[in-house]
Amino acid sequence: MYDFTPLPGQTRAQTHADLCDAARAITHGEPDAIANMANIAALIWQFLPDLNWAGFYRAVGDELVLGPFIGKPACIRIPFGRGVCGAAAASGQTQLVADVHAFPGHIACDAASASELVVPVVHEGRLIAVIDLDSPLPGRFDADDAAGIEALAAAIAPAIASA
Ligand code: SME
Repeated sequence: MYDFTPLPGQTRAQTHADLCDAARAITHGEPDAIANMANIAALIWQFLPDLNWAGFYRAVGDELVLGPFIGKPACIRIPFGRGVCGAAAASGQTQLVADVHAFPGHIACDAASASELVVPVVHEGRLIAVIDLDSPLPGRFDADDAAGIEALAAAIAPAIASA
């Protein structure tokens, strides 16, 4: 069981390091990608405050398909290049969006979302998924969050590669 409480004064970087350690531990030795994505989404939700959606879209052909997540029901298929997730998939670059309403083509799955962080997950040179985090707070995500989720994506890529 993981029951995480941030220590007083803990930095975002330390929280992300703890999240990454927990994700490595919970996926260790488990080959089922769906189970691993589900547990990682739950860990992200537990470790990071002020989220209203956290989870995965999987790269299937030339589109993203909804994977395990915590939050409101979301759009199922996103073509590469559409919205924030599609931009991350098409470019292979992290998308850190302080104001989703200013992002051209943003797809509103939850009207409460105000800011968003999307990080590509690459395994053996191939895009396999994106990690998508939404927050009801404008400007919720900073460079430490982007670096932390990028490190998480690299750490867990082998554990979700078979989906
Ligand atoms: N807002 C995303 C769509 C996915 S939901 O946030 C879960 C986007 O613009 O790609």
